[in-house]
Amino acid sequence: MTLMARTSAKIAGIQGYVPEYVLTNAELEQMVETSDEWITSRTGIQERRILKEDGKATSDMAAEAVKGLLAKTNIKPEDIDLTICGTVTPDTVFPDTANTINSKIGASNAWGFDINAACSGFLYALSTGARFVESGKYKKVLVIGVDMMSSIVDYQDRATCILFGDGAGAVLLEPSDNGFGIVDEIMRGDGQGRDYLIMKAGGSLNPPSAETVARREHFVHQEGKPVFKAAVKGMTDAVRLIMERNDITNDDVSWLVPHQANKRIISSVSNALDFPLAKVMMNIERYGNTTAATIPLCLWEWESKLQPGDKIILTAFGGGFTWGAIYLEWSYDGALVVNS
Ligand code: UT7
Repeated sequence: MTLMARTSAKIAGIQGYVPEYVLTNAELEQMVETSDEWITSRTGIQERRILKEDGKATSDMAAEAVKGLLAKTNIKPEDIDLTICGTVTPDTVFPDTANTINSKIGASNAWGFDINAACSGFLYALSTGARFVESGKYKKVLVIGVDMMSSIVDYQDRATCILFGDGAGAVLLEPSDNGFGIVDEIMRGDGQGRDYLIMKAGGSLNPPSAETVARREHFVHQEGKPVFKAAVKGMTDAVRLIMERNDITNDDVSWLVPHQANKRIISSVSNALDFPLAKVMMNIERYGNTTAATIPLCLWEWESKLQPGDKIILTAFGGGFTWGAIYLEWSYDGALVVNS
């Protein structure tokens, strides 16, 4: 494969949002047969945020993130051209959530669409958004990763309910004016692992019925071990390949930003790459796995440390299986950003 030409899409701003309610391991101990010790040692997660307000959904978390993003980048909602929303928990099967977000933020001149790639949703959305900016036709593209996992998690299934949380992250993509931006990507989706991580019912294969509800098939179903193994291999291989073909080493990379599914997966990936954990963004202990939101939530929390030219590799793995890595050079001084 030939190297992609140097691209011109840059991240011009980032903002995250997490709901207020904190679901602790202690509370989960009251709900299922588990322990803080098991959850912490097997996953690294101590708490997650849950959207509890009646009538609120995925689009509301995304809209909160985007409103903050527009305020800090000084952009008017009507200047947005396109909104791409990575999510597996859309407000409704249709219409799509991106359009609902546009209406909630007042993006009256935009269009938009959702991308369903599970935990790789933000990577897929970022890749797609970058292509629109590179086309020259789109100047301001919102890329959002958001999931309200609490709406599809079975709080009777101890193997999954301890993992997931709710949250949103949004970035603004613009044409690059300083040479920094998205450089390269490796994106995959082979469908080979679809039975291991799946919501079995509610789609055209198994439409909703009293039986599908009774069989609890409208919840996340996961076989953890094969997913764990494939996640480590998928992310490690993607990061290794993107570094090799861009001729960069561990020393050149300022930050590795892995999807936050399990602290042990993150450690295994960084070990396999011989990459120091001090340069790996990790906040899983406070948010759990927020599916499409984990990577932008990390970038948001680390924003003040990011400098123009910092080489950053994002990597994710999720249901499908879907996975990949995106290599970018950070485009602005995060320390100068004023957060309201
Ligand atoms: O985000 C996209 C991708 N998702 C992931 O990457 C998640 C990948 N998988 C994982 O992170 C891990 O496989 C889990 C955290 C889900 C599970 O950890 P594990 O070390 O693979 O445990 P296991 O599923 O093999 O279960 C080991 C034992 C079992 O008991 P037995 O059969 O040995 O008696 C489980 O029943 O742990 C038991 N167990 C629990 N015990 C206490 C499973 N969940 C719990 C729990 N509390 N919450």
